[in-house]
Amino acid sequence: MSTIHWTEARTTRSALWRSESATPPPARVVVADDRVKAATAHRLAREGTALLWRGDFHNARQLLHAMRRRIDRTAPRPAGGPAETFRLHRRARGHRARVLGRLLVLLEADYSLALRRAPDVRRACAEAYGPPPREPLAVSLTELLGVIGARQWREKGVDVPALGARVHPHYGVFSPVRGEYVDLVAQAPLPPRAGHGAGRRTAFDLGTGTGVLAAVLARRGFERVVATDISPRALCCARENVRRLGVAGRVEVAGPALFPEGRAGLVVCNPPWIPARPTSAVERGVYDPGSGMLTGFLNGLAAHLQPGAEGWLILSDIAEHLGLRTRRELLAMIEAAGLRVRGRIDTRPRHPRAGDTADPLHAARAAEVTSLWRLATA
Ligand SMILES: C[S@@+](CC[C@H](N)C(=O)[O-])C[C@H]1O[C@@H](n2cnc3c(N)ncnc32)[C@H](O)[C@@H]1O
Repeated sequence: MSTIHWTEARTTRSALWRSESATPPPARVVVADDRVKAATAHRLAREGTALLWRGDFHNARQLLHAMRRRIDRTAPRPAGGPAETFRLHRRARGHRARVLGRLLVLLEADYSLALRRAPDVRRACAEAYGPPPREPLAVSLTELLGVIGARQWREKGVDVPALGARVHPHYGVFSPVRGEYVDLVAQAPLPPRAGHGAGRRTAFDLGTGTGVLAAVLARRGFERVVATDISPRALCCARENVRRLGVAGRVEVAGPALFPEGRAGLVVCNPPWIPARPTSAVERGVYDPGSGMLTGFLNGLAAHLQPGAEGWLILSDIAEHLGLRTRRELLAMIEAAGLRVRGRIDTRPRHPRAGDTADPLHAARAAEVTSLWRLATA
């Protein structure tokens, strides 16, 4: 783990550095407290200087809001087509994350925060980061707020009507807040032969995240569901959720991997929907760089299907509305993988951002359709 250094009360100090987005440790760090003005903090952060917060915790949050407003005021207004709008939007988000990420807090060796009015973040940090490193640890306040938010979601859970239960996402694991795709998997007709004979009672859920779709498949009667993911956090989260949901006896969580060994009567995959580079671990459920997971799924599918089986690809067409992939390209990928489309079930997303006209990606989100593609070997 790398370190940061700063001078405080004429003493040089250091702490370990942690960043989920793999941001290198800032080279220049100054100590800041409640007296610092948003304009100064914004200027320093924009110039690459990190501010190590020593004031009141709530004031640090206020400062972050004020800095965010300043950054957003000066963000360029996209004027091109959808792909250009998306590119500029991501660039602006990246810039904002970098600048805001320079407001730092110091976690003590037991993950406590020695700041006035600070919440107890020890459990949230232990859940997100693992056992404390036994040395002070510097993190950005934005990252810490994400860790705190994740603890609340993990505790409260997300309601999944298709399961009649709550699913509890862990830090950095894709959360099923958009229920429309879960309903598709819960309601689509099963391939006629998926439920009969050895192997046909087996389903795979690739990239299981919280384990939500694996649990849906178990509830739909599959005797054995193998759920995989590339993320160790997701694997741990899925194990916990299937246990809570009472389907651990039928759901085997395996990986890190995309495909497990063998063949199944149904193979479900909900890859990240946008072919672009994620900037943090948290974004890995949303962005699939170079469509790597999508092509990995399509190209490996035929070799993992029982005769008569189906692969269900869950994919929204947002990438098409953003000008990042055409429908023709998607169909060509399916064909090149030796697959054919048996059918498609479409639904409209219900998430609130679809109605947010201030969102630069509003047009794409408003037009978005989520589909369950029923794929079979050609
Ligand atoms: C969009 S999320 C879907 C999660 C869950 N299936 C759901 O529907 O809520 C995509 C998941 O795929 C996982 N993933 C990404 N690339 C992967 C790969 N190459 N192999 C396996 N899993 C991958 C991510 O960690 C993430 O959990």
